[in-house]
This record gives sequence, structure tokens and C-alpha cells, in this order.
Amino acid sequence: MKILNFGSLNIDYTYQVDHFVRAGETLSSSSLQVFSGGKGLNQSIALSKAGAQVWHAGAVGASDGDFLIEELLKAGVSTEHIAHKDGQTGHAIIQKDPQGQNCILLYGGANQQISREDADRVLAGFGAGDFLILQNEISEIGYIMEQAHRRGMKIVLNPSPMDEKIGTYPLETVDYFLLNEVEASDLCGLEAGTEPERLMEALRAHFPKASILLTLGGDGSVYWDGETLYRQGIVKVPVVDTTAAGDTFTGYFIGGLQRGEDARTALSHAARAAAIAVSRPGAAPSIPERAEVEAQELG
Ligand code: RIB
Repeated sequence: MKILNFGSLNIDYTYQVDHFVRAGETLSSSSLQVFSGGKGLNQSIALSKAGAQVWHAGAVGASDGDFLIEELLKAGVSTEHIAHKDGQTGHAIIQKDPQGQNCILLYGGANQQISREDADRVLAGFGAGDFLILQNEISEIGYIMEQAHRRGMKIVLNPSPMDEKIGTYPLETVDYFLLNEVEASDLCGLEAGTEPERLMEALRAHFPKASILLTLGGDGSVYWDGETLYRQGIVKVPVVDTTAAGDTFTGYFIGGLQRGEDARTALSHAARAAAIAVSRPGAAPSIPERAEVEAQELG
């Protein structure tokens, strides 16, 4: 069983600021760091470090994104399905405040040039039982889902960043949703701030065939596998940078399941991996190796 992650590759420009810039304000940053990132790339690296064999599909610009491919290769991810497109690689402008929280402005670049032909070419190498992992930072996601479902692939969707396009995707084909409370309430048409129990009920009613992992920030996460509800707390650590913590969680959870871990073990590893990621700067470079995760105390 193979894992295909069809997802974004971004250059992350991370600016350290006192506070997030406000409308009409010009703000000086105290530092700029450049990291490899993109929800797709981060999740592929986390999956691979978790021990899964991963193929990353996506696109970079004509000449500015090859270091992202190098980063994936270094982490053991197969990159033969990454195309080069005219123009720029996708990038993210990330403001990071003293508490380690961030806000992110995206430029899609090559990520938004994925075509149906690209999708057909990539999917030809995968079949029944293989996993397809998707986030919401590339073009043609609806088409990719339809074609993968036709092939009998298991579809994992992390609907992040949430936007109006999500509602146009064939969500009934999704086997695993990994999402936060805001994404869950948007998907189910509920108000922001709806109780987690009510959110999970609504998700189960909307997507009765799917397994659902709902992340709850500081309150951890809950996972419904179709039969049993599991709860997982967070591991408390000093926060340096929250970028890619969610991607690390996703990669370690799905990677764990694919390795044959039971849900409880995969959740525990995912929580520990995410804790290590928030204690370090940057996106992809903050993702820990499996040995570090196994050595991490539960807190
Ligand atoms: O989830 C974090 C990622 O979101 C960053 O690496 C950035 O590139 C954006 O895609």
C-alpha cells in the first residue's frame, strides 16, 4: 500500500514581529528567515519521518524551487511526480509574534498550475488501497478526488486552508477527514464556537462513511474511526513557532496508521511529534525524526 501526497510546495518567508500588522499600518520586522514549507511538503516530510513510504506530487516554478525538492529527497520522499511550471514557486509570507503564533499570506504560484493532465499522469501509478492525501493549496482538487476514488484509493482530506472551493469537492468520497474546529463548523454550516461534541456529531452525520480526526487546539484531539471515539491530550512544551505543527500531527497520524499502528498509538505519536515541532522554528525543518518522537515524554 503506497501513499501519494498531492500537495503544495512553498517557500516560507518568516518575519519576526511584535504584533501582526494592522490595516493601514507599516511595521518593521526584527528578522527574516527562509524555510521550506507548504502544507503538502510539510505533511510528506512528516509522513516519511514517521516511517511511511511517500510519493509527493505537485509543482514548483521554473528555477526557484529546486531546494524544496532537495528537502523532500533528504527526508526520503519520492519526488518523481513533482513538475516544473513556468513562473514562480508558491510562497508564504508568515508573521510570527513573540508568543510563537503566526498569520500567513499565501501566493499559490506553481501550486495553482496543476492541471487535469498532471493529475491523470500521476494517478496512473497508483491504485486500489493506496492512500491519497490532500490539503487545499493546489488546483484541480475536485478532479483529483474523483479520479482517485474511481481507482479505489483511500482519500485523506485536510481541508486547510478552508475556503469556498471546499464545498464544490466530492466530499462523499473522503475516507479520512483531518480538520480543526473552525474547518469543522464551516463544513457543517455551524456557528464558530460550537462545542466539540456537537461538531463531531455533525461531522459524523454529514460524512457517515468517513473516519474523522478533529483537532481542538490546547484541548488535544478526538478521533472517530467509525466504531470508537478516541481522545488525545496535547503535550505541553514552550512554544517557539506553531508553523507546521498541524502538518506534523497529520503526517505522524496517517503515517502511523499506514505502518499498522492502532489509533491510540498513532494519536500519541502525532501529539508528541507536534509538540516537538512547536518547540522549534520554521515549517519543514521543525519536523522531528521518529526516534525523537518515541523518546519524547508524554508530559
Ligand atoms: O501549515 C503551515 C504551512 O502553511 C506553511 O509552511 C505555509 O507554507 C502554508 O502553506
